[in-house]
Amino acid sequence: MVKNILVFSDFGIDDIVAAMYAYFSEEIEIVGIVADYGNVSKADAVRNATYLQRLTGREDIPIFGGAEIPLTGMKPQFYPDVHGVEGLGPISPDIDIEDAFENFDEIKKIIEKYSGNLIIVNIGRLSSLATAFILYPALMKKVKDFYIMGGAFMVPGNVTPLAEANIFGDPYAANILINFAPKPIHIFPLNVTMHAIITPAMVNDLHNYYQSTNNKVGLIIKPLIDYYYAFYKKMNPAITGSPIHDLLTFWALTDNSVVNYIEAPVTIIISGGDAFGKSVGDFRKVADKADYPVHKIATYFHYPAFIRSFISTMKNLNF
Ligand code: RIB
Ligand code: CA
Repeated sequence: MVKNILVFSDFGIDDIVAAMYAYFSEEIEIVGIVADYGNVSKADAVRNATYLQRLTGREDIPIFGGAEIPLTGMKPQFYPDVHGVEGLGPISPDIDIEDAFENFDEIKKIIEKYSGNLIIVNIGRLSSLATAFILYPALMKKVKDFYIMGGAFMVPGNVTPLAEANIFGDPYAANILINFAPKPIHIFPLNVTMHAIITPAMVNDLHNYYQSTNNKVGLIIKPLIDYYYAFYKKMNPAITGSPIHDLLTFWALTDNSVVNYIEAPVTIIISGGDAFGKSVGDFRKVADKADYPVHKIATYFHYPAFIRSFISTMKNLNF
């Protein structure tokens, strides 16, 4: 059965690749997009979402403006080195966004419309989603499932030695989700997403295919991923490709049977200091574990199945 998805995203490169995969997957129906700050500013995220909407001809999918700043009260930090100044690597969309997109409350209509049959996928900071929990706690109980890219459990972080970007950007928001989600969240941390590697050979193969079929949607993939790969290669010369973090979260929705999860009590460190934003799971083999809410943390996925699905879905781009 097709899954209805409301996406919360900070629209950098891996977000855009993930969204394209989702648009063209037969198992996923995106029913709304919340664009918020994170990799880029909220204004850039809204513009990138609009760019993608126009490129793919899916202007029927509504865009909602999400958070502009985190609940921590700190100034957001953006990541042009990883995602490009505007979030699309070398691509600069020539689009003016006149509207301020202060329409976040309209997500209520979407949640009501798909009540009990809607999955929320959050692949950026958690500030907007946490705000929905603050404002509409009863409504959020109507969401069927939550899938989140974020965290690093017993592996290094990517923005500090201990913390991952989506959680570090707003750990207060992350804790709201961890503590108030009505059911266990499916969490995709760096433990698994760092292995969601798309190699240059795969990108080149896709690019040749898009050139031979004159597919203007697909032709943006190579410039995006090449830019992102250059960053990762500089950070780690031994890396064999680009970890497309957010893509893994969407792919898992299409076939959960090839993902392993561990259920564990989870908390986020919100006191200042070196551990700020660190995600902690109680993985001890004891009966009396920490009294944190239990969530599902992805620990393993079947890489060949992931790649097969990515390549075949991306070669079926219709426009
Ligand atoms: O840590 C990786 C995550 O941070 C991804 O979602 C990336 O797009 C950024 O938001
Ligand atoms: Ca993201």
